[in-house]
Amino acid sequence: MSENSPQSQSRKTVRDFLEMKSRGEPITVLTCYDVLFARLLAEEGVDMILVGDSLGQVALGYDSTLPVTLEEMLHHTRAVRRGAPDTFTVVDLPFLSYQVSNEDALRNAGRALKETGAHAVKLEGGRKESCDRVRTLVRAGIPVMGHLGFEPQSVNALGGFRVQGRSEEEAERMKRQSLALEEAGCFSVVLELVPGTLAGEISRVLRIPTIGIGAGVECDGQVLVLPDVLGLNPDFSPRFLKKYGRLAEAARAGIRGYVKDVKARQYPGDEHTFGEEG
Ligand code: KIV
Repeated sequence: MSENSPQSQSRKTVRDFLEMKSRGEPITVLTCYDVLFARLLAEEGVDMILVGDSLGQVALGYDSTLPVTLEEMLHHTRAVRRGAPDTFTVVDLPFLSYQVSNEDALRNAGRALKETGAHAVKLEGGRKESCDRVRTLVRAGIPVMGHLGFEPQSVNALGGFRVQGRSEEEAERMKRQSLALEEAGCFSVVLELVPGTLAGEISRVLRIPTIGIGAGVECDGQVLVLPDVLGLNPDFSPRFLKKYGRLAEAARAGIRGYVKDVKARQYPGDEHTFGEEG
């Protein structure tokens, strides 16, 4: 089967994620925003790529996800798809691309799939309006991932980056909303910054997989923001984050070495220089 065929044999599907949950196999998800890292994620066998609207902070320099546009999401998702054509890819619907109406949500989610080749979209929230959006998209054949707990697009309403679901009232609401998202047709739900016991409880009750970020080991899968995992963002070290690399240091050493060599005329050497022939 060629990489351009509609369904490559290696690409996971929403059914695979359900089966992984039922056999207790953790689902690995990482965010990605460009072609080179997408290629690496695909080669290392990550189950699912999320082109998150964390793009705004980690690649575009915004101070929240709110300014991210649909065009920016589509642009980066196309790059990711070129690097990982056989990896199931979810696109985040950015702020105000789905909140206004079901029609807007359908038009924008449709564009996300049509114009990038991604396989699913993610949207935040579990109130009635969010469930209506999910139902509309699912009816049109668009798989939807939900997102509860800390919802970055509501950072101003939530009063900052903080754990959600610590009070009984918040925990009960999150349980209700997760069931409502499942009932509306979501194929999975992200739980962000949620106490581990609550995330475990929700994961046991739901049929669809939960994908945790700062939500403990009992979620059915885990997602992290790639530059954070690789240590490209040395100033960001929240409790839930484990850094699996020191890319900022490696990159600095490389840049420093290049600058030093050029200044000292040690680069380019003869081996990097073309002769008259051959
Ligand atoms: O935008 C993003 O990267 C996300 C993850 C943190 C789940 O939504």
